[in-house]
Amino acid sequence: MGPLRTHLRSATRLAHERVDAAFGQYDLSRRSDYATFLSHHAAILTPLELSLEAAGVARLLPDWPERSRRHALRQDLEVLGLLPPSIGQGATPQGPAALLGMVYVLEGSRLGAAVLLRRVREATDPDVRAATLYLGHGAAQGLWTSFIDRLEQSPQALADPDAVVAGALAAFAAFEAAAGPAGRQKEGRTG
Ligand code: HEM
Repeated sequence: MGPLRTHLRSATRLAHERVDAAFGQYDLSRRSDYATFLSHHAAILTPLELSLEAAGVARLLPDWPERSRRHALRQDLEVLGLLPPSIGQGATPQGPAALLGMVYVLEGSRLGAAVLLRRVREATDPDVRAATLYLGHGAAQGLWTSFIDRLEQSPQALADPDAVVAGALAAFAAFEAAAGPAGRQKEGRTG
């Protein structure tokens, strides 16, 4: 594991534990829980991707169009008969290093998605089993590994690792906020 990822992983470990706990409370084999899970993710992923694009993510990551998942998520919501949630303004990355920190969180969430997908595939509801474009996005394309390789070689990230961490924490905070009171209450946290 390279120095930047090692630094990022330890600096964001507690933030990851919180989103893991908050979203881990949803039983993704149940239609209502899965619908809520996907809607919460859409409420954050869509504005975040749009603000990354406005900030020029494609200049730093030319394969960004292959990484974007909001359309896949929207299709999953349609399969479940849901409209996309209304979205707010996504957090604006404060510079290229922070931008890469935000993308670290989005790309890293693919690792958890693979774990969660197994649960979704156990669902008895055929619509739930059919709505897996988001959690299954980019599987076997090595997008996480290729992102980490690019991050460890990025002059912007190497020059300002603290800004990378700040960007990552901002993205994690947005997902934690999106988990909603349900996720936090189930976890025994209020406020
Ligand atoms: C129930 C929900 C979740 C589960 C079960 C989960 C699970 C995992 C797992 C198994 C890993 C790999 C850990 C390793 O390599 O040692 C991982 C890594 C990661 N997850 Fe999650 N995750 C969840 C939610 C999230 C969410 C919501 C985000 C962000 C939006 C996220 C971001 C990340 C990141 C950035 C990493 C990479 C950490 C590293 O550098 O190794 N996870 N997650």
